[in-house]
Amino acid sequence: MLFRSWASAVESPWPDVASVADHVGVRHLVVTRHALVRQVLADPATYRPDNALDAVTPMPVTALRVLAGHRFRLPPTLANNSGASHPQIRAIVADALHPTRVAAQRPWLTALVRERVARLTATLDAGQPADLYADLAADLPLLVLARLVELPDAPVGAVKEFARAALELFWAPLDADRQLALAAEVGRFHSVLRDFAATGGGLAAELRAAGHPPDVVVGALFFLLVAGQETTSQFLTLLLHRLACEPAVRAGLRTGEVAVADVVEEGLRLEPPIVTWRRVATVDGLLGGQPVPAGTSLVLWLARAGRDPAVVESPDEFRPGQRGSRRHLAFGAGAHRCVGDVLARMEAAVVVAGAAPLLDGVTVVRPPWCPDNLTFRMPDAFVVRRAPGSTGLTGS
Ligand code: HEM
Repeated sequence: MLFRSWASAVESPWPDVASVADHVGVRHLVVTRHALVRQVLADPATYRPDNALDAVTPMPVTALRVLAGHRFRLPPTLANNSGASHPQIRAIVADALHPTRVAAQRPWLTALVRERVARLTATLDAGQPADLYADLAADLPLLVLARLVELPDAPVGAVKEFARAALELFWAPLDADRQLALAAEVGRFHSVLRDFAATGGGLAAELRAAGHPPDVVVGALFFLLVAGQETTSQFLTLLLHRLACEPAVRAGLRTGEVAVADVVEEGLRLEPPIVTWRRVATVDGLLGGQPVPAGTSLVLWLARAGRDPAVVESPDEFRPGQRGSRRHLAFGAGAHRCVGDVLARMEAAVVVAGAAPLLDGVTVVRPPWCPDNLTFRMPDAFVVRRAPGSTGLTGS
């Protein structure tokens, strides 16, 4: 269950809190109910985020040597920082992602999506298949992020490869050969980031000016480059795929009876790109009646919490605007709640508004496939083709 939690059937019963061993025998306490997940997230004194970026497959010495060769270090900065520096680093990042700055990117992104949708429409009109991951969703969030925070001048493909390698290295079940290859990829990019952190403008310059040491600047950029773009491109892909299977919702979007913002929230609830997130218990305690010894790793099943019948009217149905739809925990909660939520929502709204019509009259040739991972969905492709005889103007 741990590495394919999104595939677990909704109707299959699951305890509120259950101890589960992972592939290397480490036990985790999986927390399922919305109220309990929220309780953990809201109590950083009892449940710290220190293990948020720990590798779930322990790294062999060979891989650690490769990382050390690149002087790889990941000090607590954002998601895994329970220390005194967190609020200040977070405030600087939050300023860079301020809603006003995000809103200013909207016209640019809307124009770019329109251009891409026109190209994809021509492809579909010509009877060709179109990959809505590769040709629409994959790089949009990175392009927007680069404009907001100034990023190293690396090719988009290289950043995407690095980010996906990092998600695999830290959150996937792996063998030693794969770890070695991923460590080389992640280490190489870390070196690029270190150079940029020392001289770059934008967010890097802000963090330096606030007196943060080079390792912290690198750590913040590292996390942002992964969390700040890969998550959203995964979400866009999963949401478009879901919409392809929800003709009534697309019809509602066309007539204006369904609001784009409600589709985005229901998407975050039912198709979150981050399915679990971790905390570690600092003291002996009780959760949902279960003893939690200090040091226990808690796996908060965010995706399942979003389908808790105690919170949502029709947990398994994609019904934008339904009661409880917005109470998902896709962005976490409390002191470490996602600082990029406004940006992610804006990007998703622009893509839904611009690209949902593409899905009318198509058949899914290749649904997104997601590799084993504790936390991230990482869809690899989403290929559609216009059904023969369809004009694309009617929903089906
Ligand atoms: C749909 C897209 C996204 C999802 C589902 C998502 C989800 C999350 C989750 C679950 C956390 C952990 C929250 C917690 O510990 O309570 C988090 C943290 C974070 N996210 Fe996101 N995220 C998304 C997009 C973004 C974007 C676009 C950015 C920035 C450009 C971003 C930046 C961050 C940062 C910096 C943190 C750490 C915050 C802290 O520790 O203070 N995320 N995100």
